[in-house]
Amino acid sequence: MKPHLWILLLFLTLAVIISIVFGVIYHRSLRPSEDAMGMKHPKKVRFFFFISWFLVLVILLLMTLPRSPYYLYADEVPSEVVYATARQYSYMMSHSAIDPYQPPPREEIIIPVNEVVEFRVTSLDVNHGFAIYNEHSELITQTQAMPGYINRLRWKFSEPGSYKIFCLEFCGMGHAMMKSEIIIK
Ligand code: CUA
Repeated sequence: MKPHLWILLLFLTLAVIISIVFGVIYHRSLRPSEDAMGMKHPKKVRFFFFISWFLVLVILLLMTLPRSPYYLYADEVPSEVVYATARQYSYMMSHSAIDPYQPPPREEIIIPVNEVVEFRVTSLDVNHGFAIYNEHSELITQTQAMPGYINRLRWKFSEPGSYKIFCLEFCGMGHAMMKSEIIIK
């Protein structure tokens, strides 16, 4: 199953659990006579309530944190470096560092499959996006292109093909036209 379906399933499960909890609380609240007697061990109940929530939180964090994409390939040496400099409304991309005063000629960016590649992404004017889509128009990974910063985006492409790059930050009138392409072989 695809990751976004898992997230939808998780969201629906949580929604159902929360609805059940609210339903039970609402149902209980309709019986004032029982509540009037008070809880027998309120401190114990509160303690176990918070411990349970704490455990649920820890389990969820342990399950999800290692899958965070920000750790991916952080301890590997990338076999390719691709420089990407955004400006209204295009990307300059090159395998060697880009001098904005002498923009490189348009170069076909070819990246080997199953190897870690590092994109060094920056911008010459405003904030842009740098989002990579596969041939099925699915968003694979993305970062921002920000003036004054170089954002490193590491990725390992597992499928060859022609991948599209789109801008995901509204950056002006030509935002929708801002795109590029890389080839994974
Ligand atoms: Cu660049 Cu939107």
